[in-house]
Amino acid sequence: MTQSVLQPVARRCRRLLVTAVVATLTTLVSGCDTPGQPSVLDPTGPAAAQIESLWWLMFWLGLGVFVLVFGLVLYASFRKRTGDPRSPASTPGKWLILFGGFALPIPILAIVVGYNLFVSEAATGPSFAANDAIPDAATSAEWTIDLIGHQFWWEVHYPNQEVVTANEIHIPVGEPVLFRLTSADVIHSFWVPQLHGKLDLIPGQTNRIWIEAEEAGIFRGICAEFCGTQHAMMHLLIIAQPADEFEEWVSEQQQPIAEINDPLLIQGQQVFMGSACVYCHTIQGMNEAAATDTIGPDLTHVASRLTLAAATVENNRGNLGGWILDPHGIKPGVLMPPTRLNSENFRALLFFLESLR
Ligand code: CUA
Repeated sequence: MTQSVLQPVARRCRRLLVTAVVATLTTLVSGCDTPGQPSVLDPTGPAAAQIESLWWLMFWLGLGVFVLVFGLVLYASFRKRTGDPRSPASTPGKWLILFGGFALPIPILAIVVGYNLFVSEAATGPSFAANDAIPDAATSAEWTIDLIGHQFWWEVHYPNQEVVTANEIHIPVGEPVLFRLTSADVIHSFWVPQLHGKLDLIPGQTNRIWIEAEEAGIFRGICAEFCGTQHAMMHLLIIAQPADEFEEWVSEQQQPIAEINDPLLIQGQQVFMGSACVYCHTIQGMNEAAATDTIGPDLTHVASRLTLAAATVENNRGNLGGWILDPHGIKPGVLMPPTRLNSENFRALLFFLESLR
């Protein structure tokens, strides 16, 4: 009688168990490296390689525990019960509690904590230097980048080279670059999974991190701390280039705006100066005095960037026009207001901005 009542319950438990196993495996598989998305499993720098090794250690240990626990659960579910289930002989032995509760978890947790401490230490400094040789936040290395977080974009300064840009950060391949991070408003977090772990940008504080790319390439970074409506679309690109290409880029970025003779470009420049753009965006050699360049990105070389709107859309005429007329259509909640222009002025402004290479 009791057995016939218990049978449907046991069947339902088994079905639930199978569903749980399938769901867990599906989740594991769907979490694997997705093409086109930055992944910690595709490291291109020494720090990211250390972090990847920690990921795999935790994965294999976790998988071992998962297989063990599910093996025991399956065994308990499917074994034929003999004798009286209430008799003391059928309760799990003390050895299972001692082994499963202490003997097994303690060394596993010790390994994870120990290796985590090792990775944290190894990933802190550049690969070439002893940790005590790392300059503090106030000093700078040859390649130092000041990165300032804003809702919802990244202000980028190369203090030693006097270069200012936004959202796209060029670095030389194979050289550790010192990043000094702070924020102009709320807390953001800098994360380029292929190059390093996460580090917060905190108002009133400077955090530092060394980034090194071992290969040339474009690496997508994201803001990893919720910072407002457009947090999820606060992206950036790290563009790692061979030394000669990088130095060429630096010398181009050091130039102020070139002299303009074309009537359409002159008209575009006048539209820029006569609209709200001028109060938030700086163009070096043109409006440094009028603009507060910490409100919006520096536009001196905007046309040389690959993307617009914090690396969310490709930098082409269509997107540039759409961004100026209706930024909220591309990124709802962004702080840039829409700009109203007649078609002639709009066209001139686009030509002018596209000339800023
Ligand atoms: Cu900035 Cu999230």
